[in-house]
Amino acid sequence: MLNIVVLVSGAGTNLQALLDAEEAGIIRGGRIIHVISSNPEAYALERANRHGLCSSVVNRKAFLTADEFDSELLKALESCEADLVVLAGFMCILGERIIQRYANRIINVHPSLIPAFCGKGFYGLHVHQAVLSYGVKLTGATVHFVNEIPDGGAIILQKAVEVYKGDTPETLQLRVMRQAEWKILPRAVSLFCEGKITVKDNLAVIND
Ligand code: GAR
Repeated sequence: MLNIVVLVSGAGTNLQALLDAEEAGIIRGGRIIHVISSNPEAYALERANRHGLCSSVVNRKAFLTADEFDSELLKALESCEADLVVLAGFMCILGERIIQRYANRIINVHPSLIPAFCGKGFYGLHVHQAVLSYGVKLTGATVHFVNEIPDGGAIILQKAVEVYKGDTPETLQLRVMRQAEWKILPRAVSLFCEGKITVKDNLAVIND
């Protein structure tokens, strides 16, 4: 069984999808052992608590530099003996040390079809606002490995979602979460834990 540690910063609906999937037996080969939040106010912490799951806070705002934050986060991950790190609505960019220490063992969910609407500045509702401003008719979500390039790691799974006339960033966000994120994130985590993903030259292949 692989040790899964989930990193969060906000509402934690993706964490909830993972917890529900685990309870339903959908995640094979791994168990969620710990939740770490970069924000002490995150509702995700309440979700972890209600599930009887250990959690801790590494408060981004308590550190002057990204490097100090990374050191503390790395310590926390090492003390959990994490095999897989899942970024589920985690709003901080990880530093090189963590990315290299957990190369191809950090998974992120991003609320668009990468390589569209991703990279620096594209997070949370900003992504959906940009999608609406551009007028694309299809968007979606992507689960990918994390490398040194923001949202640039190997893509594991993607799912397309329609943009409707009259959508607001909020209505679109909810549809993308419901139809894509909450489905492909648990699926990707399970595939990883079952050893069904191989990565070569920044391309992920699923051997299912
Ligand atoms: C989700 O849509 C997630 O994909 C996005 O923020 C939301 C967090 O929701 N993440 C990013 O934009 C990271 N770049 P949640 O806290 O309810 O899971």
